[in-house]
Amino acid sequence: MIAWQTPLVDGVYVVAILVFILGLRSMSSPATARRGIMLAGVAMFIAVAVSVLLPGESNFALIALGVFVGGLAGWYWARVVQMTAMPQMVAIFNGMGGGAAGAIAAVELLVSLGNPVTAGLSLAGAVIGSVSIAGSIIAFLKLQGWLRSKPIVFPGQQPVNLAVLVIGVAFGGYAAYSVQAFWLLPFFLLMILFGFLFALPIGGADMPVVISLFNAFTGIAVALDGFALVNGPLGDAGYALVVAGTLVGAAGSLLTLLMAKAMNRSVGNVLFGAFGATEETGTTVQGSMRSIDASDAAVEMAYANEVIIVPGYGMAVAQAQQKVKELADLLEAKGVTVKYAIHPVAGRMPGHMNVLLAEAGISYDKLFDRDEINSEFPSADVALVIGANDVVNPAAHRPGSPLFGMPILDVDQAHNVIVIKRGQGKGFAGIENDLFYKDNTRMLYGDAQAAVGQIVAALKKS
Ligand code: TAP
Repeated sequence: MIAWQTPLVDGVYVVAILVFILGLRSMSSPATARRGIMLAGVAMFIAVAVSVLLPGESNFALIALGVFVGGLAGWYWARVVQMTAMPQMVAIFNGMGGGAAGAIAAVELLVSLGNPVTAGLSLAGAVIGSVSIAGSIIAFLKLQGWLRSKPIVFPGQQPVNLAVLVIGVAFGGYAAYSVQAFWLLPFFLLMILFGFLFALPIGGADMPVVISLFNAFTGIAVALDGFALVNGPLGDAGYALVVAGTLVGAAGSLLTLLMAKAMNRSVGNVLFGAFGATEETGTTVQGSMRSIDASDAAVEMAYANEVIIVPGYGMAVAQAQQKVKELADLLEAKGVTVKYAIHPVAGRMPGHMNVLLAEAGISYDKLFDRDEINSEFPSADVALVIGANDVVNPAAHRPGSPLFGMPILDVDQAHNVIVIKRGQGKGFAGIENDLFYKDNTRMLYGDAQAAVGQIVAALKKS
């Protein structure tokens, strides 16, 4: 690069980095999240454009082809994906990031074997990137239903996994030490095998936590690649990777911890606990379930002062959010105060309920998280639970229950509780729900969209 170009390029990288940070900041609230995504996209565009246009770069045709194929596939899939299939799309897109980081590390390894610093950094990036893409593929297959969603466990699993990891890393270390690229082949194969084995014992519904963890891994791999690039013979285009990777690594780690905390589980338990492999036994809930029909439910809500709607995974499956909005509009027109209680792990991905309700045009200021709304249930006339189960299960207060300690929405405190679900299906945790047997609870059986639709029809008639 000629002298004046260096500060210019660095300046553009700094701009991209600042826009990345602004984007991340905007993603912290649902109201500004859309803008955050756009800003992060702009930052990525700037960073890629300046890297591609760096003096001395070649292979423009190949780069353009990659950008075209990747961009078109990403754009198409993101447009056609169903909201309920979003977790697996995120899993596979994130896996692509890990794969890209692994591929960059592979190229760096080939030119840096024998150099302890760059080869070490590249090896670490390659390990994390390979594990991330392989694990993300398993996450995708489980969430898509193409692989058994329940934990896949076998005797001696953890020692076998550890052995694969250690032997694989040893091959990589030997390749770097002996400067023999051949040994990179078994290294990569074993790392990919380790990624598969690592994700197999994790249940499908825990995958959002794991995807977030893989996302953090990918960020770290990218940052390590960046360090290796900066220190190695491939030039200083690595600064953007260091910053972007560190941001992703930090944000992904925080999100992972927050999700585990909201389920009252450790990240270790999510990764190694094979949660859901066995079902709760020996606990029978006392009492019986009582049902209600849609017209009685409509009357109960029409005469209420306050109704708190509690959406869960079933609302997402049924795509009931538009009907829910219609119901809330009708109730509000009758002078009823309607609020939404959002549990941080309701559904199957972070922000799942917020996204669906926003899609239906429900304003953010009516959405309240657990800490804000829990104290309001005792004064609410009706808590309307739509396809939620674990996040409202009072078994979380019962020592010995798999859910024990999980912070839940205390809907059982409301004067009346109406639960919409199709039948006797359990939630993700696979345990009975004490709430359904309480005296103040009535069950409205049916698909959430159809059931809410029936309440809407009854309200319109009244
Ligand atoms: P769940 O506990 O999974 O319960 C969903 C309920 O929806 C089921 O009981 C099911 O009963 C009902 N349902 C399914 N399809 C329906 C339909 N079409 N219409 C009406 N109801 C339907 O959901 P939740 O309360 O949202 O809890 C989420 C669970 O996922 C928690 O255990 C959480 O820890 C776990 N998890 C979440 C995340 C994130 S980030 N969200 C990450 C990891 C794990 P029927 O079959 O009887 O209808």
